[in-house]
Amino acid sequence: MFVSDCLAVNEKNHLTIGGVDATEIARQYGTPLYVMDEGQIRKNCRAFTSSMRRNYGENGLVLFASKAFCCKEMCRICADEGMGMDVVSGGEMYTAKSVGFPMDKICFHGNNKSPRELEMAVEFGVGRIVVDNLEELDRLETIAAQHGRTACILLRIKPGVEAHTHEFIRTGQIDSKFGFALQTGEADAAVRHAIALEHICLKGFHCHIGSQIFDMEPFDEAARIVLEFASRMRSETGYVMQELNLGGGFGIRYTESDNPPRLDQYMDSVGACLHECCKTLGFPVPFIYIEPGRAIVADAGITLYTVGTVKTIPSVRTYVGIDGGMFDNPRYILYQAAYEAVCANRAGDPRDAVVTIAGKCCESGDLIQEHTHIQPVQPDDLIAVLCTGAYNYSMASNYNRNCRPPVVFVRDGETRVVIRGETYDDLLRADI
Ligand code: LLP
Repeated sequence: MFVSDCLAVNEKNHLTIGGVDATEIARQYGTPLYVMDEGQIRKNCRAFTSSMRRNYGENGLVLFASKAFCCKEMCRICADEGMGMDVVSGGEMYTAKSVGFPMDKICFHGNNKSPRELEMAVEFGVGRIVVDNLEELDRLETIAAQHGRTACILLRIKPGVEAHTHEFIRTGQIDSKFGFALQTGEADAAVRHAIALEHICLKGFHCHIGSQIFDMEPFDEAARIVLEFASRMRSETGYVMQELNLGGGFGIRYTESDNPPRLDQYMDSVGACLHECCKTLGFPVPFIYIEPGRAIVADAGITLYTVGTVKTIPSVRTYVGIDGGMFDNPRYILYQAAYEAVCANRAGDPRDAVVTIAGKCCESGDLIQEHTHIQPVQPDDLIAVLCTGAYNYSMASNYNRNCRPPVVFVRDGETRVVIRGETYDDLLRADI
């Protein structure tokens, strides 16, 4: 009935998440509110870890791309599920470190890591640093030498595969701020440089082809291209790639019309392609990393809002004003991202009204969804926007000095706050 498995309707005609009545959760914690089903998060983690094992045995590691949803409790869950994490900033790294996350299972990304962030990574003993450019490679060599350490790295390669939701092309990828291009010889030069450095240990390569990808072929194609590159590097330099990080980007179902492959289908497809390719090239199967973000958390989350106003403009549209907006979910204004919305206190009724859900920010563009189907709503109704577990909390802001809402987790019929809501004093904390 809903786009996410963890949602249902109970006998009171209320929406439930993880079996708990959403109206009760809203009553207890207030709105706006992020709610996430821990069971669904763990189920998604296990879909990846088990297919990783099926395809590569012990020779693989799933890294949660923490940019999708980073907080201490999520780090603890990843550790508990035996996963690693991808971080892209000192802040994400610091969050992982603060809960004792195994730092050797962290992969540190970024196209312009600051010297301080590189130092932190070396000091914290981060497992892999994904080096993006030559300046960074030299900076890291110096920092590792100063600390008397060896930095284990992967080189970020642009495989020349650009994936869109329903198609992919193999050109144009030189124009990306991330990584070393294959076509220009940049990647070759980086390998030769990296293997000559004393405090750098080149473990292998990384590629990431995009996000919310529904086709499996671009993943296969990228794996093939990087393997062919590794094979050529072996014959030209003697360097043998030991590890390959295939990035994230697995598409998920935001609306009824989305039809992505199952998580294990993506994994099995690229796994088969990889094994076949290694065989053809006579190349040892490398240790494999993948970095799903959205596919682990998106469908586990909903955002609850209270309707404050309903404004019908005859022959134009109906605006439903909610108590949240672009400060808790900027994805519609940034990407025109599609979401489904449900009236949580009449969840089983037909969604036969068409409305525009508007946020409370002082900006006409502050919309959560336009012309969307929902039950007819009135002030004080509770609206749930579905599949908001990824890139909502993590991209939230204090625009208009709104407080970021709390995040509540549901587990075994119980709820608990994992991130408390901000207060006005939090807003003033850094002000002088
Ligand atoms: N690995 C790397 C190197 C990435 O750059 C990303 C996402 C991921 C993994 C995880 O991708 P995922 O599995 O979540 O698709 N703010 C945008 C998404 C930006 C993704 C950036 N990189 C959004 O709200 O849709």
